[in-house]
Parts: sequence; structure tokens; C-alpha cells
Amino acid sequence: MCGIVGYLGGRQAAPILLEGLQKLEYRGYDSAGIAVIQNNAIEILKKSGKLAQLRAQMNGYMPESTAGIGHTRWATHGRPNDVNAHPHLDCQGRFAVVHNGIIENYLTLREWLISQGHVFRSETDTEVLPHLLEEFYMGDMVETIQRVIKKVDGSYAMVALALDEPNRLVAARHDSPLVVGLGEGENFLASDIPALLKHTRETYILEDGEIAVLTRQDVEVLDHSGRRVDKKVFHVKWEAAQAEKGGYDHFMLKEIHEQPRALKDTLSGRIAQDGSRVILNEINIPQEQLQQINKVVITACGTAFHAGLVGKNVIETLAGIPVEADIASELRYRNPLIDANSLVIVISQSGETADTLAALREAKRKGARVIAVTNVVDSSVAREADDVLYTWAGPEIAVASTKAYITQLLSMYLLGLYLAQNRGTLKDREIAQIITDLRKLPDKVASILENGTNIKEFVREHCNCENAFFIGRGLDYAVAMEGSLKLKEISYIHAEAYAAGELKHGTLALIVKDVPVVALVTQQALYDKTVSNIKEVKAREATVLAVATRGLEEVSKVADEVLYIPRTHQMLTPILAVVPLQLLAYYMAVSRGCDVDQPRNLAKSVTVE
Ligand code: AGP
Repeated sequence: MCGIVGYLGGRQAAPILLEGLQKLEYRGYDSAGIAVIQNNAIEILKKSGKLAQLRAQMNGYMPESTAGIGHTRWATHGRPNDVNAHPHLDCQGRFAVVHNGIIENYLTLREWLISQGHVFRSETDTEVLPHLLEEFYMGDMVETIQRVIKKVDGSYAMVALALDEPNRLVAARHDSPLVVGLGEGENFLASDIPALLKHTRETYILEDGEIAVLTRQDVEVLDHSGRRVDKKVFHVKWEAAQAEKGGYDHFMLKEIHEQPRALKDTLSGRIAQDGSRVILNEINIPQEQLQQINKVVITACGTAFHAGLVGKNVIETLAGIPVEADIASELRYRNPLIDANSLVIVISQSGETADTLAALREAKRKGARVIAVTNVVDSSVAREADDVLYTWAGPEIAVASTKAYITQLLSMYLLGLYLAQNRGTLKDREIAQIITDLRKLPDKVASILENGTNIKEFVREHCNCENAFFIGRGLDYAVAMEGSLKLKEISYIHAEAYAAGELKHGTLALIVKDVPVVALVTQQALYDKTVSNIKEVKAREATVLAVATRGLEEVSKVADEVLYIPRTHQMLTPILAVVPLQLLAYYMAVSRGCDVDQPRNLAKSVTVE
């Protein structure tokens, strides 16, 4: 999730581009860059690191140009460095492009372009775009962009600056946000509204497949077949701070709503076109070593550890290998039974958590093969692991992890299928069936968010409680762990998660009248057992909020309130079941007036032991 901007007008472009990027830095801060046309050449100014690094490098220099594009990067393909920073140029420096999204077929396009004589400078997927422009340009940028986007698979919001057409900016979007800002004698482009607010509140929100052609006087929007679109002006009422949150009150709520996107991005390029198998090019474990693996150890901290708990169940079921899930701060001092036949999976959103890093080093010291699942390109765990599976959730600003967690769950399914494929533990049709259900998850999460959940009443009734319990069996227990952590860390309610069958061995003593109990009921095979545990707490007059899969409506007879999630493959329910729990924690925290995005005593990345 990068931030892109464009400007065409009468004023000096560079300061306006830099200001816009400043407003979009929450979208990515691995590098920043601008391109302008000056002295009949495209001038590129770019630098790895935060925008401040670029400003320092420019040292007050501002190119004299009234047209330009800019970018702030969240790395996905290619490490954060100066060469991989955007904007990217073609061979002759006639086309500059900034891009937000993922070009899934970039490797194929790159090979073809190289065979046509093009020379690449960076490791990025984006660089294929200016070379394609160079390859197809016949004198009209709009026609050329139309040809280029026919070649490209994946998601993109892109803006192109062409030396031959200095009075036009052409932009296109597919599956990545892009907004046009309408001015007097000037026009703007941006990934998001915060970059525009200082200049205009009159905007066009571009739809998928649309192309915008900007001149200083006019903005023309064309649909995918080149027909002019009569765009409705969207007048922005938001304040700047609100705009950064996309109109949401908190980054956490915004990030909860970004989960369908995060799942789609993390799936992209990792499923065979025919849906028959997963493709993890980034995992390069020799076949022979894959066969010798006799143990998997998943290690992480906090929410990432909870994703590991689901991973334990999933990998054991799919690949038939014994899996241990271990808290990193425990594993590193436990002299774990790990050796060269062990596969260790470390999970970390930030990639910088000290305990997880130390556990990674301990695993390597013992000769294990280490896969890192992380959300930050080139982070420490990424650099030190043997293989890296990136979750493409984009920057996660709120301390409470939501979209990163859901993409970590997805990574566990991808790794489970990968191991099953390579060890022949699943039939092809079983793999294809799970992949079919996986691909439907982004829309199912979106439907949970769109339909909203009737938790407001439960929140009103219980937001002043001091204790709460989460119960579940099997995968539901692992999700209950995450639900209780979310509630604890942002609402400060003392919440505990229990394997539902464990309650009667002690904790049931804590269940008294009206204590809120959240019960996860998504596992068909464990339905009767879980319902009997709900009856146990109801017998002590607890108030039960159940999260159940559609089809298990019977649970409404024993629970006070039921939040239904769409049906899916039994093993995949955690990705759906956690969403109502994230929303419950969020609304509980809001109703208690807590600082949702920056809870007390916590930090987004814990880099100390
Ligand atoms: C989760 O909401 C918390 N922010 C925390 O538990 C977090 O998951 C933990 O600190 C691990 O962080 P990491 O994924 O960046 O390693």
C-alpha cells in the first residue's frame, strides 16, 4: 500500500508533490521520490527511507516545473533502497511512472521486455510499466496506457509522466484507490484524499478500469473501452485527521475494513491460474529437505502467536507433520528440541520483535530451516530467515493488530497447502476445494463488514464489565485467544480465553450472573460439545454472545445473542470468526473512551526483551 500523487498546473509542482506525499506517509515510508519535466528532460529525485530523507537530499533544491508525479513506498517486490524507489523510468528516460498495487505477471512481462532489448535497473514489479509504455508508444499516451493495462494482471493505481506530452498526466486504476482533485487552472491526483485537502475538496473518485486524463484546464475520465464517463463530483467534508483514517474514527476500524483488500493482496500471485495448487516462489526449500522435515515449530509473540496456534492445527491436518506452537520468549530459553530436520516458522507483523528475532536465531543456531512470515519487507526477521513469506496487509498503524493477523492466518493455510502439495498428503481435488474456498474469503469478510453486526446492544449492556471470558474448541479456541487479547489490549477489560471443555476444571467458579461469555461455535464436529459448555455457563446465569457459522442456528436457543458468519470450509472459519471479535473489542473500547489506536502501556513493535 503505497501513496502516489500527481500535479499539473501553474504552480511549482515539487513542493505540492512533497506536501501530498507527507500526507500519505501513513501508507508507506520505505522510500519516497518525485519526477518532474525540466529543461526538456524528466528529472527524478528519490531516496530510500522516510520523506525527510528525500527532503534532506534535496537540501532545499526545488526543480522549476509545473508538472510532476510522486510516490511514497510500502515495499512488496524489491528491498527498500534508492534503486527500487519510485518513480521508475524506461530505458530512454521518456516515461516516468509511479504505482501502487501489485503487478502479478511482472516476471513474464520483464522477460519479454528484456528479450525486446529493454534494460531493467530495479527489482520491482512496477518497472515493467514505463518499459511497456516505451515499447508501445505511438504518439498518444491514452492509447498507449490502454494497450499497457491490457497486458497487466494484478492491482494498480498508476500515474505516467511523458516527456513527449508535458501538458498531460494520464492515470489508470484497477483494484487500488485513486482520486482526482479538481482545481482552477490546475488538477491533482492522489491515492487518498488527505493529499488533496489543502488544495481542493472537489474530487472524482476513480472506479476500477477508469483512465483519467489531466490537463491544466480539464480532467477527462474514460471507461475501459475508452468512452468518456460523466463523473459525479464528490465533495469532501472530512477534516484532515479524519481523512488520513479514510473517514473512520480510528486507524484500527479503518484497518479492520481493509481486511478484504489485505487478503486479496496476500493471495495474489500465489494461486495457480486454474486454482489447482498454491505457488510460493519465495520458498526455496530443496525437495529432498522438504521430505526430511519431521517437525514444524511455529514461534511468535502476542497476536502473531495466536495465528501460529491456528497454523499448528492447519499444518498438522494438511501436511501430517507434528507441529509445536511456542511463545518466542519461552522457546529461546527452553533449549528446544530443534535440529536440521525441523522447519521453524517465525511470525511477526513488524519483523522487529526482539523475542521473535532471538527465537529465530536460536532455531538457526540449532540448524533448522527458518521461514519468516512478516508484513515488513527487509525487516530483521526477513533478512535473517532462509525464506520469507510476506503478508501484504500494508502498513498497520493501530497498535492492536487486525489486518496483519488475518493475513498471517492466510499464510498458515498457504504454507499448509504448500507442504501438503510437496509431501503428497492431500489429493488434488482436496487441495483445489480448499483453494476455491480460500479465494472466496475476501468477499465473505467484506459481507460481514457490510452487514454490520448486532453487537451494539451487547456492548451497551456490558461495556462497564471488568471481566469477560472467551470459549471455544479446536480452531475456535485459538480464535478465542485472539478475541480476548484484542479486548484486553484496547478496552482494558480483564478477558480470558479458555478451551471450552476446560471450564469445569476450575474457571467455572468465576462464572457468575451477567458475566459476559463470548462463545465461538464454528466447528460442526465440535458443535454438540460446545453447546453443552454454553449450557454450563448459562446455568450460572452468564450472558452469552455466540459467534456461529450460518447453518448452526440452533445455538440461538442457548445463547443470548448470536453473530452469524458465512459458511466456509471448516478449517478456514478463523479468518471469518475473528472479524466480529475485532469489532466487539473496538466498540467496547470506544464506549469506555479508551485511546483505541495507542492503548496505554503498549507499543506497535516491541524491540526490547
Ligand atoms: C497485537 O495486537 C499486539 N500489538 C501485540 O501482541 C503484537 O502482536 C506482538 O507484539 C507481536 O508483534 P509482531 O507481530 O510485530 O512481532
